[in-house]
Amino acid sequence: MLERLAPASPDALLALIKLHAADNRADKIDLGVGVYRTGQGDTPVFGAIKAAEERLVETQASKSYLGPEGDMGFVEALMPYVFGADDPSMGGRIQGMQAPGGTGAVRLAVALAKAAGVSKVHLGVPSWPNHAQILADLPLEMAPFDHDCDDGTANIEAVLGAIRGAGEGEAVVLHGCCHNPTGIDYTPEQWREIAEALSDSPILPIIDLAYQGLGYGMEEDAFGLRTVLAAVPEALVAYSCDKNFGLYRDRVGALYVMAREAGDLPAIMSNAAALARANWSMPPDHGAAAVRLVLDDPALTAQWLDELDTMRARMRQVRERLAAAGQVGTLDLTPLGSQNGLFSMLRLDKEQVARLRSDHAIYMAASGRINVAGLTQGNIDKFIAALGDVAKE
Ligand code: LMR
Repeated sequence: MLERLAPASPDALLALIKLHAADNRADKIDLGVGVYRTGQGDTPVFGAIKAAEERLVETQASKSYLGPEGDMGFVEALMPYVFGADDPSMGGRIQGMQAPGGTGAVRLAVALAKAAGVSKVHLGVPSWPNHAQILADLPLEMAPFDHDCDDGTANIEAVLGAIRGAGEGEAVVLHGCCHNPTGIDYTPEQWREIAEALSDSPILPIIDLAYQGLGYGMEEDAFGLRTVLAAVPEALVAYSCDKNFGLYRDRVGALYVMAREAGDLPAIMSNAAALARANWSMPPDHGAAAVRLVLDDPALTAQWLDELDTMRARMRQVRERLAAAGQVGTLDLTPLGSQNGLFSMLRLDKEQVARLRSDHAIYMAASGRINVAGLTQGNIDKFIAALGDVAKE
């Protein structure tokens, strides 16, 4: 029976990791999957996480099961950063549970929405390819709208149209900050418009916050999410610590639910726990426990925030350098300076992306998405020259 299965195409982003590893050219550049890199091209473990891991090894007395909700100390320690220090649970209306990375959190959020009666999910495109894959796998109908305009700004009319036209049983997935793949975020004014439209609509907001702290700062990057939550009766938040704590392979994330009333939460969370149990039983503990230890210790918290500042400053420098290059062949790199996070999109076709790989050893997604953190003082000039080569006027 199993031989009936036709080969599935490998995930294009993950396949790039292997292709890049197999390339022997010394000057190869990896702008593929979204991991932060230092100016030396490394993706080190955060110092604060290393210290917390050492403490964990010394103090952890048992690895016995925790349950589908995972490490609730981790889930709660994160809440002031996500929802604001003043009232992180919004009067007891927000509760969370751990999930295996941002992917697990998104999966759990949309599965819970489906269990509650959602059948159609609006999604701005382009989006992180796994959003569509998860929706197709559940399955849930996906209704795409344009995320961005040709001039490199967010398409506010498209998202407002999707929200205003939606009926009962519909949800919308919004990227909280550092939009993947475009780097184009809604402005604060646009978030206010989105929040107002959501407040007049039966649509359920699902906010994917996978890059908090990589745009303008932890507080600044939560603006959109908090503006929406202040305006709507209920929402789901899929959170990832994979990037802002550098825990990628340890799979650290959380699902948060904001309910109409605190009294609704036990039933909602019991459904989320049942879905988690059937999917992965319980999330991996190690990374979440390390994050909890960082957030429970003011010195480690300060160290982590410093490390995050350094990452953000480096990505801004790279963006400024790219923007300063201005027009490169047919490409205008100027907008990259005002975009946020790890990613931006270049208007390259598949052949141009393939030529960058074959002729210049530069690896990026076929969509033209680049991970700006893959660029360093040592390779950025080569990258700009290669763009000039494949995007000649
Ligand atoms: C990316 O978009 O490169 C990251 O979010 C990693 C992933 O899982 O796709």
